[in-house]
Amino acid sequence: MASTLRFNGRVVLVTGAGGGLGRAYALAFAERGASVVVNDLGGDFTGVGKGSLAADKVVEEIRRKGGKAVANYDSVEEGEKIVKTALDAFGRIDIVINNAGILRDRSFSRISDEDWDKIQRVHLRGSFLVTRAAWDHMKKQKFGRIIMTSSASGIYGNFGQANYCAAKLGLLGLSNCLAVEGKKNNIHCNTIAPTAGSRMTQSILPEDLVEALKPDYVAPLVLWLCHESCEENGGLFEVGAGWIGKLRWERSLGALVRQRTQPMTPEAVKANWTKICDFDNATKPKSIQESIGSIVEALNKINSGGEVSANPTSRATSATTSEFARAIGHKFPPLYSSYAELDTIMYALGVGASIKEPKDMKFIYEGSSDFSCLPTFGVILAQKSIMNGGLAEIPGLSINLAKILHGEQYLELHKPIPRAVYTYSGEELICYNQFSIFVVGSGGSGGKRTSDKAKAAVAIPNRPPDAVLTDTTSLNQAALYRLSGDWNPLHIDPNFASLAGFDKPILHGLCTFGFSARHVLQQFADNDVSRFKAIKVRFAKPVYPGQTLQTEMWKEGNRIHFQTKVQETGGIVISNAYVDLVPASAISAKTPSEGAGLQSTLVFEEIGRRLQGIGEEVVKKVRAVFEWHITKGENTAAKWTIDLKTGSGKVYQGPAKGSADVTITLSDEDFMEVVLGKLDPQKAVFSGRLKARGNILLSQKLQMILKDYAKL
Ligand code: NAI
Repeated sequence: MASTLRFNGRVVLVTGAGGGLGRAYALAFAERGASVVVNDLGGDFTGVGKGSLAADKVVEEIRRKGGKAVANYDSVEEGEKIVKTALDAFGRIDIVINNAGILRDRSFSRISDEDWDKIQRVHLRGSFLVTRAAWDHMKKQKFGRIIMTSSASGIYGNFGQANYCAAKLGLLGLSNCLAVEGKKNNIHCNTIAPTAGSRMTQSILPEDLVEALKPDYVAPLVLWLCHESCEENGGLFEVGAGWIGKLRWERSLGALVRQRTQPMTPEAVKANWTKICDFDNATKPKSIQESIGSIVEALNKINSGGEVSANPTSRATSATTSEFARAIGHKFPPLYSSYAELDTIMYALGVGASIKEPKDMKFIYEGSSDFSCLPTFGVILAQKSIMNGGLAEIPGLSINLAKILHGEQYLELHKPIPRAVYTYSGEELICYNQFSIFVVGSGGSGGKRTSDKAKAAVAIPNRPPDAVLTDTTSLNQAALYRLSGDWNPLHIDPNFASLAGFDKPILHGLCTFGFSARHVLQQFADNDVSRFKAIKVRFAKPVYPGQTLQTEMWKEGNRIHFQTKVQETGGIVISNAYVDLVPASAISAKTPSEGAGLQSTLVFEEIGRRLQGIGEEVVKKVRAVFEWHITKGENTAAKWTIDLKTGSGKVYQGPAKGSADVTITLSDEDFMEVVLGKLDPQKAVFSGRLKARGNILLSQKLQMILKDYAKL
C-alpha cells in the first residue's frame, strides 16, 4: 500500500475557504495534519458585502474534528495581511491555494469598467498579492507549493464571461511564470480548472449535478500537487467528478512563408494556410526555449537560401486583362445554411407584406393554416454565399462594396420554398439564381459584355397595363430588409451612401424586386406560392426608402410582364421584367410536403456518408460507441448508433450491436439545434434537454461529431 500523504508541520493558506471548493481543501488539508488559514471575505458571489461567518464556520468545523485552523476575513486584495495571519498564528507559510473568486457575468458589450476591474482585482491581482506576500518566505525555506485556480471558461472561452475568462487565463500565465522562477527554490506552481457544484455554479448547473459534482472530487488533486513528494510544476489540469486530465500546448509543424529573396505577403500566408493549421505530426513545446528554437531554426533555413515556390502576385499592381480572366469559371465553395419561419417572416415584412392586407397573413404569421414562404425568398438563400465573403474571394477582382450595382436578377423555383429548412434536402434542387452585378470602374477587361448563359430581360407589351398595384415603402424599409442578410452599408449608412454617390441610403434592389413579385403573385395567382415559377428583372434606378412603388402588369398567357415605377417621380426602377406562373390547372390538390419523418434521420445518414472518407481519422479521435434515442413528443421515435470505436466507424439505425459507451436521449428538434451549433451539448446536458447515460464525459465529443462532421 502507498503511504498516506500527510501534511504535518505544513502551514496552508486557502483563500475563499468559507464555502465551495475552498472549504473542501481546508478540511482535507487539516484532516491530514496541516495547520490551515481559512481566509474568506464572506461577501456574495458577485463580491458585494463581507462578514466573518463563512470563515468562522469552517474553522470551527476543523477544530471540532481535532484539526488546527485560524480564520482571516480580509479580501485577497490585502495579500500581506492574510499571509501575516499565517505567520502570526503558525510561524510559517508553506502552501498557498489561490481559490477565492466571484462572478460578474455580462455579454461583452455590457461589461462595465467596474465589473471588468473587480473580476481582475479578485482573481488575478488577488492571487498575485497573496502569492507575492508568501514568496520570499517560501524562497528562504526552499519549499513552497502554490495552486492557481483557472477555469474551462478561460481555456476555451464562454459566452458572457469575457472579464472572468481573461482573468482566469491570466492566472495560467502567472502560474507558468512562477513555475519557472520558483523551480530552483523548490517552489512549484500548478493550475487547476475545476468543475464542481457550489453556489457559484448553482445557477448554471441543474440541481442534481450540483449535488453530484462534489468539491470533494477536486480536493485530492490539490492535495497531491501540494505534497512535498510531488514533482509536478507548471502543469494545468482539468478536474471534476473524480476525473483528472492534464492539458498541454500543441503546435503544428507550420510553414515557411518567406524566403531570402522573396518578401512575406498576406497571399503567401493564405496559400500556406492549410499547412500552417495542420496538426499532423504536431510538436508539444514545453518551454519558451523550445518555442524560440523553432523561430531560430526558421531563420537559419531562410538565410541559407533555397528557391521559393512563387507567391501569388501582389495586389499592388493594377489589374490586367489576364487578372480579370481568373474570375471566369470561379466556383463559390458550397454553402450549408438553414432558415426557420422567423427568417421567412422577416423577409416578408422586409418586402412589404403587411397585416393591412388580410391575404398577406399567410406570409407573416406562422400560425396561419396556409403559412407559406414568399417565392422570392429564394434569392436570399443564394445571396448568403455571395455576402459571406464570397464576392471578396473571387480571384482577379478587387471589389469595393460601395461600387457594386445589382444589374439584373433571375430566379427560378423548382419547388415551392419550404417554410423552414433545417437541413439541406439531400441533392434536391430547390431554386436557381442568376445575379448580374456591375462593379463600377472595373471595366476594360476586353472580354464579352454578356454570357450565353444569362437569361434575357423581355420588353413589356405596347399597351396600357392590365393591372397596377401600389405600396408605399416605409422609411425603415431598407433597415428592415437588410436583416434578411444583405448587410451592405450602402443601404443604411449615410456616409457610405455618399461615398457611393447617393444623397442618402438607397433601398436594396432586391427589396423592390420582392415588392413587385408580391404584387404579381397577389394579382394573378391569388398568393398561391406553388404557382410561382420564375422571375427576371432589370434594375434601372435606385429607390429611396419612403417612396411609393407602383407595379404595372400585363398578362400574356402564363407570363406576367411587369415594370415598377416610383410613383412620386414617375421614374422606372425595374424594367423589362416578367414572372412566369405555373398554370392553375397544373397544380395538384396535394400541398407541398415538408419532408415527412424526422430531421435527424437525414443527419445520421449524412454522417454515415461522410464517415466513408474520414472514418478512420475520426475513430482515432473519438474511440467510442454512441447510441441515440431520438424523441418526438413523449415517445422515442428512432434509435441510431454511431460507432466510432473500431475500423473506420459506422452509422446504423437501431440500438448498438455491441455495448454503447454512452446513450444519449434528446428530441429531434434539440438534435437539430446541436447540429446547427445553436445548442451547446454541454449546456444541453446541464439544462436537462440532453440526457446522457454511461460515460457522460464523452458528451464533450458530441460537438465535434455532430457539428464538424455533420456539416449540414
Ligand atoms: P464559491 O463562491 O463557493 O467560493 C468562492 C469563495 O471565495 C466564497 O466563499 C467567497 O466568499 C470567497 N471570496 C470571494 N471574493 C473574495 C475576496 N475578495 N477575498 C476573499 N474571499 C473571497 O465558489 P467555488 O465554486 O467554490 O469557486 C472556487 C474557485 O474555483 C473560484 O476561483 C472559481 O472561479 C473557481 N472555479 C469554480 C468552478 C466550479 O465549477 N465551481 C469552475 C471553474 C472555476
